[in-house]
Amino acid sequence: MNVAEFEALRVFTSEYLQFPPFVSAFNEIDRLVQLYRQTSVAQHLLVTGESGTGKTTLCKALVERYPRATLPERDVVPVLVVPIPPAATIASVAEAMLARLGDPAPTTGTTSAKTARAARLSRACGVELLMFDEANHIQDRGQSPTQYMVGDWLKGLMDDVQVPTVLLGLPRVEDLLRVNEQLRRRFTRRLQMALGQDPDNSIETQCLRLFTSLTPSLPVPFNKGVTTWSELAYRLHAATDGRVAYVKSLLIGAIRLVFEREVSEITLAELETAFTAEIWPQGVGALNPFCPNFDFRRLDRAGEPFERGALVDRPSRRRAHAA
Ligand SMILES: Nc1ncnc2c1ncn2[C@@H]1O[C@H](COP(=O)(O)OP(=O)(O)O)[C@@H](O)[C@H]1O
Ligand SMILES: [Mg+2]
Repeated sequence: MNVAEFEALRVFTSEYLQFPPFVSAFNEIDRLVQLYRQTSVAQHLLVTGESGTGKTTLCKALVERYPRATLPERDVVPVLVVPIPPAATIASVAEAMLARLGDPAPTTGTTSAKTARAARLSRACGVELLMFDEANHIQDRGQSPTQYMVGDWLKGLMDDVQVPTVLLGLPRVEDLLRVNEQLRRRFTRRLQMALGQDPDNSIETQCLRLFTSLTPSLPVPFNKGVTTWSELAYRLHAATDGRVAYVKSLLIGAIRLVFEREVSEITLAELETAFTAEIWPQGVGALNPFCPNFDFRRLDRAGEPFERGALVDRPSRRRAHAA
């Protein structure tokens, strides 16, 4: 990768995109913190979205809004993000929380000692917002009692620490709340990260907006050619399922082509190649949303990238492993 390409990618990926569900979720969580600061009332929120809709990025944005500080006598951690480990147990979640709080020996002690320490440290560090990311990992053990126990543990911890708590995860986290009444009562407020909740604009239109908000950061102009805006919107939605991660991957693939092929503009042909390279290797011909003879349908059948409930291996991760 040459310096110019590196710089183009840096510019392209440097800013938070202010797309509507991201902004709503950010503002709502910010409101929870402000409410807590002013009244000590702790309200909670469930944020769901498919993989690549921006949940982890939302956690990062809140950490930046309320950054950590190191005082001479203690660390201040206003926002504590705890990623729930795969196949979560009470011990592993408590350890993850202790590690994030800077506990020097998170694995030491019995489960209840760890839990008590996590609550104590949270108070000592002035935590004002708890964010549990990847909450769907609580369900990875299916119907086993662990799922209930971790849910109950979380409820107990929330009662103990008494700060606003946000649970983030895949849409199936709703099932977890369905079977755990105590948790359900605490998470009556819910938000979805998916595009398509704006009654005034179709999901395709929102997808097109997300795309066009990114095109000014490209190193060369985007040219849609003879394709109409509404057709482009349809193709973009089919290619990305309206998930910010895929809209970005598509354009990152296009940037790579700009440097590889030295093209002076990005057209549907570049997007076609980028879709196959970055999103779905089998997506060629009628299965490629940017191909002239695309099938004009959603790619959500079995084996396709947006199959419902499928665990899609995100392109960015694949490359990170390959590198
Ligand atoms: N608001 C945003 N602005 C810019 N990029 C974003 C935004 N939200 C997500 N992304 C990008 O999309 C990708 C996936 O986001 P992530 O937060 O990991 O999704 P999730 O946690 O829902 O799977 C990341 O590469 C991230 O940089
Ligand atoms: Mg995530």
